[in-house]
Amino acid sequence: MKKLRLGVLGSGKGSNFRALVEALQEKGVPAEVVMVASDRAEAGILEWAKEFKIPTWVCPRGKWQSKLEAEIEEALAKKLLEAGVELVVLAGYMRVVKEPLLRSFSRRMINIHPSLLPAFPGLRAWEQAYQAGVEETGCTVHWVSEVVDGGAIIRQSKVRVESGDNAEKLHARIQVAEHKLLPEVVMDLALGRIEFFRDGKR
Ligand code: GRF
Repeated sequence: MKKLRLGVLGSGKGSNFRALVEALQEKGVPAEVVMVASDRAEAGILEWAKEFKIPTWVCPRGKWQSKLEAEIEEALAKKLLEAGVELVVLAGYMRVVKEPLLRSFSRRMINIHPSLLPAFPGLRAWEQAYQAGVEETGCTVHWVSEVVDGGAIIRQSKVRVESGDNAEKLHARIQVAEHKLLPEVVMDLALGRIEFFRDGKR
């Protein structure tokens, strides 16, 4: 079976990326990460990529923090396409995705978010959930659309809020759930158990 070619974008420590690569290897999933890109040269995800000998690309920061400038995002989309990426995985990527990436990877881009969407979109979702006093929260893998954290939900995993929790303890348990959920979804996409426009075709 031809391996599904993944491009991973991240801005942070890269624990989801690491869990994904390890799970793909351990479980013999027909998928491989062929490129990692980050908008932060100092991001831990780039260190992990080097460790796994996966090519990296660092986007120029540009003048905004919340999104890439159109030309920079265009260049990023081009790099991913040139690397033959079929599915983009946002794993802690902190910029809002705009038209250049959405156009190139329509229905071929997923994100992992640390809450049970549609509850608590946006930043520090675990803290939002903790402060709202909910009994359970979790994580969501969804398709990326022009609405931040608003694309169609693929799968979710629940995490209970326990007595004695604080926001950081809760986040740590959500991350454990994320590290299981993201590889499971990627595996099902690679095996054709979840339908998507691979190669731009259904
Ligand atoms: C994760 O909690 C993810 O849900 C959120 O950012 C965090 C990234 O963590 N979008 P890491 O860089 O994968 O460790």
